[in-house]
Amino acid sequence: MAWKRKDVLGLEEFGRDEVELVLDTADSMHEILRRPIKKVPTLRGKTVVTLFYEPSTRTRTSFELAAKYMSADTVSIATATSSVQKGETLRDTARNLEVMGADCFVVRHGMSGAPHFLARVLEAPVINAGDGMHEHPTQGLLDLYTMRRRKGRLEGLRVAIIGDVAHSRVARSDIWGLLKFGAEVRVAGPTTLLPLGFEELGVKVFHRVEDALEGADVVNVLRLQLERQKRGLFPTVREYAKFWGIGRERLALAQPDVLLMHPGPMNRGVEITTEVADGLHSAILEQVTNGVAVRMALLYLLLGAAEAERPGEPRPVEAGAARAGGED
Ligand code: CP
Repeated sequence: MAWKRKDVLGLEEFGRDEVELVLDTADSMHEILRRPIKKVPTLRGKTVVTLFYEPSTRTRTSFELAAKYMSADTVSIATATSSVQKGETLRDTARNLEVMGADCFVVRHGMSGAPHFLARVLEAPVINAGDGMHEHPTQGLLDLYTMRRRKGRLEGLRVAIIGDVAHSRVARSDIWGLLKFGAEVRVAGPTTLLPLGFEELGVKVFHRVEDALEGADVVNVLRLQLERQKRGLFPTVREYAKFWGIGRERLALAQPDVLLMHPGPMNRGVEITTEVADGLHSAILEQVTNGVAVRMALLYLLLGAAEAERPGEPRPVEAGAARAGGED
């Protein structure tokens, strides 16, 4: 299929074939990451802006590296030291950056829908890097990519998503993505941290963590989002760790070859023990590497592939050509 989307805002609106195109393209990009010189000329002359109104280590850095590995220029706007502090609106900030020549915006914002708003007012593509408690589509794609690489399929996988589901944009994107492939999605967490209405989507909701873990092929542990909690959703962090934390004994309830995932950053000793986070089943650092490949794929599809559609110009890099050569 051909890529037609201007923006990447959420996996809810993605078709299964679009997700497959991103994951297949990421396979070619992953090969570039294994080269001694990780550089292809695909996005030479393009400028990618990362505009983050919330902190980030993985998402922002992996987008910047993804852009650099494809020879794009990158500009990182730190809102703490920008004119946002003088009251400049999101729209004005982004429009000013666009008229300076930005070709793509990667946006994280605490308000759900902020990237969608920018997508309407900007001509350049907008990628949602996490909006409030709504979606984190690139994390969802890298999670699906990691599961597919390690398990060879998504269809029929039993995936247990454990913890603070209510505040998790990662959980929402994972769920939208996994359901499109016929995975069995289970969620478990304290009742106060489980949103209503998930059963209607086809998700299995559990109120005991052990029941959700039984026979799972993948366990995705969510970060307890202490910064987004209202008071009284659970008694203490210590009690949360005792009843919902994933350690060796609980993980043993899953399949013997279970894949353990966490989007990061981890609260070690709270939602996950150090023993399993750094243990044999853990794919947590692999997720981070895969995140670079998936973000390279998205930048290529949004910027490089569209460029290649211009008549009379050669395609800058085919997914397959990236695999075959094309180092800068
Ligand atoms: N997983 C994730 O979004 O991590 P960062 O907050 O570090 O970007």
